[in-house]
Amino acid sequence: MDESVGVLDGLWMWLEALPLSARIGESAWFPFLESIHVVASTFLFGSILMLDLRLLGRASVSHRISRIVAEIVPWTLAAALLAVLTGFPLFSTRATHYAHNIAFQIKIVLLLLAATNMLWYHLRTARTIASWDTAPKPISAARFAGMCSVFMWIGVMLSGRWVGHLL
Ligand code: HEM
Repeated sequence: MDESVGVLDGLWMWLEALPLSARIGESAWFPFLESIHVVASTFLFGSILMLDLRLLGRASVSHRISRIVAEIVPWTLAAALLAVLTGFPLFSTRATHYAHNIAFQIKIVLLLLAATNMLWYHLRTARTIASWDTAPKPISAARFAGMCSVFMWIGVMLSGRWVGHLL
């Protein structure tokens, strides 16, 4: 547990003192929201893994990458939105505790890295996709993006799991 007093601690204390945060933390809303958070996170992870395995040339190699992206990424983004919409109320119940929770800190850093990796792939690497869209083994930049994504999202899931187990 990180004992330092952060600049945002005033904000976290304000957030957790809100009547709604207390209501969620002291009722069945917490396990209900956490259950949806777990389902959304698992759906997000599973759908991203399908694309990453294609980028690594390990699955669906007979399908064009652009088609897999077009059919899967909208679902991934919907699951991510649901994970954020359920994660924030969970966080608000004990904001100061979670903000200083090392597993939560690692999860948020990995989430930001995974989002950056995804954006870099879609905005930079995929610019040349026309030349490798059907290739069973895509270009090294695409494979690298796929590999980074797999490890970062495994890290998000594992650190997320640990959040509730660190006092
Ligand atoms: C968008 C991607 C996200 C993924 C994939 C994700 C994944 C997870 C996972 C797997 C857990 C463990 C659940 C369990 O097994 O009990 C978890 C817990 C948690 N997540 Fe997330 N999460 C995401 C975003 C967020 C965000 C944006 C927040 C808050 C701002 C958040 C707040 C929390 C909290 C507070 C817990 C711990 C609840 C407890 O005390 O048990 N999550 N998350």
